[in-house]
Amino acid sequence: MPIPATQFIWFNGKLVPWEKATVHVLAHALHYGSSVFEGVRAYETPKGVAIFRLRDHTRRLFDSAKIYRIPLAYSPEQLNEACRQVIAANGLSRGAYIRPVVFRGYGEIGVTPKYEPPTEVAIAAWEWGKYLGAEAEELGVDACISSWQRVAPNTLPALAKAGGNYLSSQLIGAEARRLGFAEGIGLAADGTLSEGSGENLFLVKDGVLLTPALAHSVLGGLTRDTVIRLARERGLEVRECALPRELLYLADEAFFTGTAAEITPIRSVDKISVGKGVTGPITRSIQKEFFGIVRGERPDHFNWLTPVPVKSKQTVSV
Ligand SMILES: Cc1ncc(COP(=O)(O)O)c(C=O)c1O
Repeated sequence: MPIPATQFIWFNGKLVPWEKATVHVLAHALHYGSSVFEGVRAYETPKGVAIFRLRDHTRRLFDSAKIYRIPLAYSPEQLNEACRQVIAANGLSRGAYIRPVVFRGYGEIGVTPKYEPPTEVAIAAWEWGKYLGAEAEELGVDACISSWQRVAPNTLPALAKAGGNYLSSQLIGAEARRLGFAEGIGLAADGTLSEGSGENLFLVKDGVLLTPALAHSVLGGLTRDTVIRLARERGLEVRECALPRELLYLADEAFFTGTAAEITPIRSVDKISVGKGVTGPITRSIQKEFFGIVRGERPDHFNWLTPVPVKSKQTVSV
């Protein structure tokens, strides 16, 4: 999906024109994968545009930087404000996908240079549709188990949302798409279920919601956390545990969660129907609750929405 350019990107402390937010080809991150990033969504609500779980995304960004010891010159509050600024300056009143990225920039070459390369920070935002296709939310997607396993816990930290981790995601996602599936699911190093190339995974079996625990090389997804909280709130039993691959074939329902994928039902895995091959009632009711909250149609009782005043397009000049 091509990126629909907007007017401004927040880059190292100020808004710059979209095409001027560039980096040197010898930036550390380009060679060694040393970036950490976020994917955040803002939704149109009856009271204006609002960013979903912004503070939690920013906290995860700082956590990812902490794991890799990437120094950051900004506070979480400053980056939260910068995200709001990017939405407002670009007049994104219909909602947006926001991409904050922190990376080791241009300095010395070498994996662990003597002098820390400068940390660069950018935040871009644009209008973005459904990640797994327009019909996916309604009809579900066909997925497969990938021949590529996820990184083992003692290789790369899965809880860091780091650029380098997405080489694994590229292998898993690209293989699935080459074979005609919408998405691939990686197994953890111990052979149990882990997650999709860019989504967490949930199963429903006999009325219980199941998802791989954090130790199974998954990203601690904020949509995952949202679903767990909403499900528990309505009295559903939720278990975070080790799950064998074949439980996916035997599940009554299954779905992916993620900021990009939102809540996408899985209708088949490895060409075996999940349940009846149609979106099940628990998935539907969680989808309804989730979209109700993010779109401001249901009470935001967890205080997950950060409103952004957006007047009209291009209100800021640089
Ligand atoms: C590998 C991976 N797992 C899970 C997720 C879902 O995380 P979240 O719900 O915070 O977007 C993502 C998306 O960011 C991801 O890239």
